[in-house]
Amino acid sequence: MAKCNIFSWRSLFLFCFVGFVSRPAEAAVKKYQFDVQVKNVSRLCHAKPIVTVNGMFPGPTIYAREGDRVVVNVTNFAQYNMSIHWHGIKQFRNGWADGPAYITQCPIKTGHSYTYDFNITGQRGTLWWHAHISWLRATVYGAIVIMPKEGTPFPFPQPYREANIILGEWWNNDVEEIVKQANKLGLPPTMSDAHTINGKPGPLFPCSEKYTFAMEVEQGKTYLLRIINAALNDELFFAIAGHNMTVVEIDALYTKPFTTTALLIAPGQTTNVLIQATQVPGRYFMAARPFMDAPLSIDNKTATAILQYKNIPNTVLPILPQLPAPNDTAFALGYGAKLRSLNSPQFPANVPINVDHHLFYTIGLGINPCPTCQNGTQFAASLNNITFVMPQVGLLQAHYFNLKGVFTTDFPDRPPMPFNYTGAPLTANLGTTLGTRLSKIAFNSTVELVLQDTNLLTVESHPFHLHGFNFFVVGTGVGNFDPTKDPAKFNLVDPPERNTIGVPTGGWSAIRFRADNPGVWFMHCHLEFHTSLGLKMAFVVENGKGPDQSVLPPPKDLPPC
Ligand SMILES: *[C@@H]1O[C@H](CO)[C@@H](O)[C@H](O)[C@H]1NC(C)=O
Ligand SMILES: *[C@@H]1O[C@H](CO)[C@@H](O)[C@H](O)[C@H]1NC(C)=O
Ligand SMILES: *[C@@H]1O[C@H](CO)[C@@H](O)[C@H](O)[C@H]1NC(C)=O
Ligand SMILES: *[C@@H]1O[C@H](CO)[C@@H](O)[C@H](O)[C@H]1NC(C)=O
Ligand SMILES: *[C@@H]1O[C@H](CO)[C@@H](O)[C@H](O)[C@H]1NC(C)=O
Ligand SMILES: *[C@@H]1O[C@H](CO)[C@@H](O)[C@H](O)[C@H]1NC(C)=O
Ligand SMILES: *[C@@H]1O[C@H](CO)[C@@H](O)[C@H](O)[C@H]1NC(C)=O
Ligand SMILES: *[C@@H]1O[C@H](CO)[C@@H](O)[C@H](O)[C@H]1NC(C)=O
Ligand SMILES: *[C@@H]1O[C@H](CO)[C@@H](O)[C@H](O)[C@H]1NC(C)=O
Ligand SMILES: *[C@@H]1O[C@H](CO)[C@@H](O)[C@H](O)[C@H]1NC(C)=O
Ligand SMILES: *[C@@H]1O[C@H](CO)[C@@H](O)[C@H](O)[C@H]1NC(C)=O
Repeated sequence: MAKCNIFSWRSLFLFCFVGFVSRPAEAAVKKYQFDVQVKNVSRLCHAKPIVTVNGMFPGPTIYAREGDRVVVNVTNFAQYNMSIHWHGIKQFRNGWADGPAYITQCPIKTGHSYTYDFNITGQRGTLWWHAHISWLRATVYGAIVIMPKEGTPFPFPQPYREANIILGEWWNNDVEEIVKQANKLGLPPTMSDAHTINGKPGPLFPCSEKYTFAMEVEQGKTYLLRIINAALNDELFFAIAGHNMTVVEIDALYTKPFTTTALLIAPGQTTNVLIQATQVPGRYFMAARPFMDAPLSIDNKTATAILQYKNIPNTVLPILPQLPAPNDTAFALGYGAKLRSLNSPQFPANVPINVDHHLFYTIGLGINPCPTCQNGTQFAASLNNITFVMPQVGLLQAHYFNLKGVFTTDFPDRPPMPFNYTGAPLTANLGTTLGTRLSKIAFNSTVELVLQDTNLLTVESHPFHLHGFNFFVVGTGVGNFDPTKDPAKFNLVDPPERNTIGVPTGGWSAIRFRADNPGVWFMHCHLEFHTSLGLKMAFVVENGKGPDQSVLPPPKDLPPC
């Protein structure tokens, strides 16, 4: 077992610098082999078998350039069913490569392979990939780095170097077992034992000094950090001691740059920042800690990594940054308000102005009776009072082959009964309806969706992720959405565009997108606990009439159920 002396780290450098690789003349095919395999990994004084890709934790980074074709052969050597989601890749007409199990594909069974084949069209920046079945994304995740087209510079100062900073969670016990136990009891799964930065908790955790990510910087240089929140259940604050960060991109979309001392990043989101190594040469902690807006549990575990100036010895004690308080909802709202699309001639914000479908979904989290659960009750979650039930076959197959009886398309556009959504706590009992109900949307129509938090059990911020599209966050507010007054305050000029939005605690977010991608697209809370409870639904976007406006035929190796 490693010594737990935080002042005498050795071999803690693991540089993750990605130079600017030589630029090929043409769009290329980037091929990857992903072997899903179990490997013993040791953290926090414990070794345990975890599911990995190619034995790596975090998994390998996918590097590509805008316009490239990416081909990933995923071969499953683990005992679990597997599927991989390429989070934020639009997958135009190509939901077959999107990955969520039982939504766009059946799982890749043990001993089988499936090749994800997709083009990266009109996207550049930082995204990520992760397992999209059960809770396996706890350890099965990695970065996707998409460089701009050859000869196209970033719309911000060129960094000297760049690094991926992937935030995550670590459990000392088998996560799949923990989830199974929790479901039996009707209780939330136990909290993770650590937060991590690039798979490493850092020295504030026991036996973790050698599991500390460190990044060397040179005085006077500018660095690009590609920050990804791969945690299962925690929105995280992130800061670097002594160094402000300039936000330049979120979810692979450029923003108007702004400088901040800390940032908030929800599971599923990515944030690119520039930092300048202009401080007194030394060692500075980067730190990540949860934003805990719901009083249900307290988790203030702080993951740390080190920003280390060149030639500074490891004996220098690093300085911790100041992070916002765990319950700092004001910081969360203020930070969100600073995000704006770049909206330049080259990267315009094409915000839908006329709306074809106005949707209003309430986010419900509560406790229901459960005669078969040990405690007699269980947590439940719903959108518009519907708890989504996972089907036994992929919804995209059911849609494409017109299989009957798998889903219905009557997902309601608004809640069955209006109530004071964010008022005094209501009965925590949802009494929800179960169903595999989808919302049908005509090709190329425009959608406005207001996601409204409720106070059924408690108000809480929920990071909602939409597959297959980016959307514009045209408005956000605290309390109940007012359909007569609030739209007047919408930003239709340069709202932030993204694929995952943290709906504010006890508030609402209004998003708009154009449904120009035919297929079946999952939408869900990216807190894995809530997804498991049914906080999810899917859109079925119909084919258009044009030649390139329908779902592509399924690949031959699409896994059967
Ligand atoms: C993995 O670690 C566990 C717990 O320390 C140990 O029992 C097991 O033998 C190890 N397995 C391998 C393949 O090393
Ligand atoms: C995918 O990888 C597996 C394992 O290496 C191999 O058997 C299979 O032929 C590969 N599939 C394709 C399409 O290359
Ligand atoms: C990717 O692009 C190539 C070249 O345009 C095209 O032949 C192929 O069908 C595309 N693949 C998908 C899945 O859209
Ligand atoms: C970081 O920003 C804060 C607030 O704007 C400012 O007070 C501080 O001086 C800045 N720090 C550095 C190192 O630039
Ligand atoms: C975390 O919370 C516990 C319990 O409230 C407290 O004792 C501890 O000091 C906190 N730690 C940090 C790093 O804030
Ligand atoms: C946040 O927590 C602190 C310490 O527990 C408490 O004093 C403060 O009132 C809380 N703030 C909010 C906005 O809930
Ligand atoms: C069991 O359910 C009851 C009623 O909802 C709740 O008050 C109690 O806290 C639950 N037990 C545990 C261990 O959570
Ligand atoms: C909703 O509840 C809040 C808090 O109890 C209250 O202040 C507000 O007036 C209520 N709104 C309506 C429309 O009843
Ligand atoms: C949700 O549906 C159940 C069952 O139909 C019903 O009893 C309950 O009142 C509904 N709740 C809300 C908030 O609409
Ligand atoms: C979708 O509609 C917009 C606005 O009417 C139009 O400009 C665009 O060409 C349409 N796209 C397709 C693929 O039909
Ligand atoms: C794996 O997936 C197949 C196909 O959907 C299913 O029949 C089987 O029950 C799954 N196995 C487990 C352990 O979930």
